[in-house]
Amino acid sequence: MFITDIGTDIAKAKAFLEQGELVGIPTETVYGLAGNGLNPAALSKIYSVKNRPQFNPLILHVGNKSQFSRWALSLPERCTQLMDAFSPGPITFLLEKSKDVPDLLTAGSKRVALRIPDHPLTLELLSALNFPLAAPSANPSGYVSPVSALHVKQGLNGQIPYILDGGDCKVGLESTIVSFEDGAVIVHRLGGISEQQIRDVVGEEIRFSLSHAHPEAPGQLKSHYATATPLIIKDVHQVVTSSKGERIGVISFQKDYGKLVEVCKVLSPSGDLSEAAARLFSAMRELDAMGLDKIIAEQFPEEGLGRAINDRLQRAAFRNN
Ligand code: TXA
Ligand code: MG
Repeated sequence: MFITDIGTDIAKAKAFLEQGELVGIPTETVYGLAGNGLNPAALSKIYSVKNRPQFNPLILHVGNKSQFSRWALSLPERCTQLMDAFSPGPITFLLEKSKDVPDLLTAGSKRVALRIPDHPLTLELLSALNFPLAAPSANPSGYVSPVSALHVKQGLNGQIPYILDGGDCKVGLESTIVSFEDGAVIVHRLGGISEQQIRDVVGEEIRFSLSHAHPEAPGQLKSHYATATPLIIKDVHQVVTSSKGERIGVISFQKDYGKLVEVCKVLSPSGDLSEAAARLFSAMRELDAMGLDKIIAEQFPEEGLGRAINDRLQRAAFRNN
């Protein structure tokens, strides 16, 4: 057991990581549970602290583009184009791994997931280290991802020595994961970069591989991001009339249902999907802490970041809808 400290001391985070310990790190998407990506003992700790199945590989975080050719065998042209457009930023690239990438990191796969996170503290940390950082989201496996240092502490208190506090995550959804096949871009997880943003860079050559049954990105399991309180995606009025006497919380896009239910989190009154994305996981966590009977989420518009929001809500709702 550790006393889990929260602070902004990069030297302290660096020292723990160099000793093979794990540290919570801020990124623009969600907080990561970071360890030395080349050290199998640190990688094992990540799986066990998160209670994550060992078949679900980890993303390797690097500080700059030149690192990609160190850990990937080759960079397809489409990859370079997307990196130039969006890295550092909320996009992860699945590429053929070089032999120096540990099999434990990729769960035996020949491909490695690489990403440059866009957060000043973590970029400074990465440039101070002489190894890349493996980092899944810093939550117990299956729960809602953390978007503040406090969320990390709530989930992992006592299990890690330090959380580097970089404030609230500004994107609030995990990175978009892509791979490349015959000149096409394959999207494995929708996240902080939308389909349209990718299309604007690479044109029409996009396919989706978001399969739930045999996911190529195993984090795409159907039930994930789940609150303990049952969450359903339904018309709010309809549920309210059939649930008399129940304490209900609502997650809505623009509309305030506060008069109908116990509590309503309006994610963006002005209708901005980026703002809604940045608030989604905090809203889920706050409602989950209230001991409500159920959480009703609205369906979001299937455009821009709305698709990634709906994806997270559907996985959270999987057991209940
Ligand atoms: O925004 C993010 O990506 C955050 C921050 C911390 O960087 N990280 C994150 O990690 O969301 P995690 O572990 O929660 O999700 C990573 C996803 C999983 O679905 C995993 O299956 C997939 O990436 N993945 C990682 N390596 C892979 C590989 N070699 N092949 C296929 N999928 C991979
Ligand atoms: Mg995760």
